Amino acid sequence: MTAEVTARVLGASGYTGAETLRWLFGHPRVRVVGATANKHAGKRLDTLWPQFAGATDLVLGTEAPPADVTFLCLPHGEASKLAPTLTGTVIDLSGDHRLPEPAHSAAYGFPRQTDPWIYGLPELGHARMRGATRVANPGCFATALALALLPMQGALPSVVSAVGLTGSTGSGATPTATTHHPARAENLRPYKVLEHQHVPEVVAACGGGFTLDFVPMSAPLRRGILVTVPLPALAGGGATFERYRAFYEGNPLVRVLSAPPDLHGVLGSARADLGVVEKDGRAVVFCAIDNLCRGAGSQAVANLNLVMGWPVDLGLRTLPPVP
Ligand SMILES: NC(=O)c1ccc[n+]([C@@H]2O[C@H](COP(=O)([O-])OP(=O)(O)OC[C@H]3O[C@@H](n4cnc5c(N)ncnc54)[C@H](OP(=O)(O)O)[C@@H]3O)[C@@H](O)[C@H]2O)c1
Repeated sequence: MTAEVTARVLGASGYTGAETLRWLFGHPRVRVVGATANKHAGKRLDTLWPQFAGATDLVLGTEAPPADVTFLCLPHGEASKLAPTLTGTVIDLSGDHRLPEPAHSAAYGFPRQTDPWIYGLPELGHARMRGATRVANPGCFATALALALLPMQGALPSVVSAVGLTGSTGSGATPTATTHHPARAENLRPYKVLEHQHVPEVVAACGGGFTLDFVPMSAPLRRGILVTVPLPALAGGGATFERYRAFYEGNPLVRVLSAPPDLHGVLGSARADLGVVEKDGRAVVFCAIDNLCRGAGSQAVANLNLVMGWPVDLGLRTLPPVP
């Protein structure tokens, strides 16, 4: 198959940008024509990321040549400054275009632009993505939580509680007092309790009508997210393995288990693993993803696939490494 679209990644010296490139370099119908950085501008991509040796001779610029599709892998606030100047398809991995107002301002502290963006969770429907030119890629925790709750849409209790553990790459490449190695190694630290910015995304993606009490926790891992959602027995039908299996049947980017998943089953892959453990009408639902893949880069490429009308998992069928 020959390449059909050209792509560029803005913010390729960061974690999501590099991960997006990793998937694009292996994609049969995409040719990468440019990549940008800020303080790392001027370096060869394969010097900054030796993983790309042999795949590219691109040099990181402060600007990139035009392309059919632009992936924005920039900090919140920077993506929305650039987006209005861009032509072609734009897939934004930041939170700048995910929420409507007033939820956006409450979550991010600055107003959202009014131009229309599609929220790019593939499970919300493939046809709606076809030909889209502005796609807001979901947040990493938001992806795991939405996948855990979507099969229960309309049958959720009024208050849902969830806990989620995440690895250090979720905080980006620049260390801070709470994210650098000595603070995270051999430690577990809850943060943004009941106020994580991804909560309104999840509630909106799952149709609203419930409150989500979410406790995020930083874990001593590089990659990976595991969310745990206990769900009570409900008159309208509980969370059952069978319900989840049927909901995700035929979805190549979700696997449903009747046991808890773990991170080794998904790290480095585009897949989410869901687990539904039932007892006496109650259930606990788990979702494991790689925050940089299903939570960022591979999901962005899945969204490109849907925009183009290609199979959602084209170029994304890589298996996780075995230990
Ligand atoms: N990390 C995750 O798991 C994850 C998952 C989903 C979504 N996201 C979202 O994706 C976006 C990127 O996250 P990340 O983790 O990849 O961050 P990151 O590792 O900090 O990378 C940020 C990138 O943006 C560039 N940059 C920083 N300031 C800039 C500026 N003023 N102008 C132009 N470029 C600038 C950086 O370039 P230099 O390094 O060269 O300065 C770097 O390439 C964020 O909005 C984040 O919330 C992250």
